[in-house]
Amino acid sequence: MANDNQNLEKLAVAKAAIKFVKNNDVVGLGTGSTATIAIKELAKLMVNGLKIIGVPSSEATKELAASLGIPLLELGKVNSIDISIDGADEFTENFELIKGGGGALFREKIVASLSKNRIIITDSSKKVNNLGAFKVPIEVLPTAYQYVVDQLEKLEGSVTLRYKDDKIFITDNLNYIVDVDFGLIDYPEKLGVALNQIDGILAHGIFIKLTTTILMAKDGNVITYSK
Ligand code: 5RP
Repeated sequence: MANDNQNLEKLAVAKAAIKFVKNNDVVGLGTGSTATIAIKELAKLMVNGLKIIGVPSSEATKELAASLGIPLLELGKVNSIDISIDGADEFTENFELIKGGGGALFREKIVASLSKNRIIITDSSKKVNNLGAFKVPIEVLPTAYQYVVDQLEKLEGSVTLRYKDDKIFITDNLNYIVDVDFGLIDYPEKLGVALNQIDGILAHGIFIKLTTTILMAKDGNVITYSK
């Protein structure tokens, strides 16, 4: 649960991020509590005349953006996004991220891949020297579940199937999420490549080369990391 300071930090980076959005931009809308704040701030700017079209990265974000009157395009019908704004569960100064705490990692990855300008917004608790204290979320096709678990264990991952409200968590794409503890990850890109090779994994939460700017709030300031 976020404390008051974290909430203030999330608001600060959300406000900083929306300054990058230009009139008539197609905007990738992230998922999670920080992205939610940015989406609400964008909607406020729209009341004052900003025109954008949003591309949601989850059903929850789609519902939120629609309720705020943001016109939307379906992710599957878009071939380019001007700018995306999303949160992260962990990041390093080398622009390596873990995402997927909310289970939206697959669509978030597609949104980021389609985006020219990829902005990540976080409070100060998300910055790490090495990824891996946060378990890596991985979206798995249910029919390949046991096979994928076996492959992840061969990579020395400790696998936990994600539950919500005592039921298996089901993603927007009707798959499972496993949260995998690999310990601290020395080579995230190498691990990402290994995960990409396992049939039955739709997407994993290691995001490499998918971020252009990270905005992190700390001690009342917004720190910008740019490529
Ligand atoms: C959802 C995500 C989120 O961006 C990530 O979990 C951060 O969420 P929050 O802003 O609530 O801390 O990847 O799949």
